[in-house]
Amino acid sequence: MNETEAYEAVRHSLKPARYEHTRRVVQTAEELCRKYGGDTEKVRKAAILHDYAKYRPAEEMRKKVEEHPELPSRLNDYGDELLHAFVGALFVKEELGISDEDIIQMIAVHTTGRKNMTLEEKILFLADYIEPGRTFSGAEKAREAAASSLDEGCLTALSQTIEFLVSKRTAVYPDTFEAYNDFIQKRKDA
Ligand SMILES: [Fe+2]
Ligand SMILES: [Fe+2]
Repeated sequence: MNETEAYEAVRHSLKPARYEHTRRVVQTAEELCRKYGGDTEKVRKAAILHDYAKYRPAEEMRKKVEEHPELPSRLNDYGDELLHAFVGALFVKEELGISDEDIIQMIAVHTTGRKNMTLEEKILFLADYIEPGRTFSGAEKAREAAASSLDEGCLTALSQTIEFLVSKRTAVYPDTFEAYNDFIQKRKDA
């Protein structure tokens, strides 16, 4: 599947505003690749497809989690927001024939992060958080951190995400804590 086909696949699955978000994530991810390295072609493809499952019914996605042992079963104990990333990774494999595991993993962890993120996973995770259409408080702080260090950008995004979820009394997915702890630990070691 080339980029034009990938864009075509998501254009039919996403609302116009989400499609525009996707285009900005691709652009931002490419800029981060230019600055920090990484496989631009893979990152672009994952960025195009990252929200493929955004508008699938939560019930359908929760059923997929039950049926597929390769998906973390604990996902069904958390909010709907996380499903589109993990289940979307499965859908792009099953429905669009994407077989590159790096791309699939980038999509799977784009919302939660995880421990030991690859360079490309960090780039997509951060691009999704700081693309120019993000206007929530904290996006600018993450952009500033991202300008000097990819890891500091990710750490800012993760800590603000955790703070936001805690302020709403919403559960935090364990991978997000693990990602946060991992970045803190590596910062101490540096
Ligand atoms: Fe997403
Ligand atoms: Fe997104």
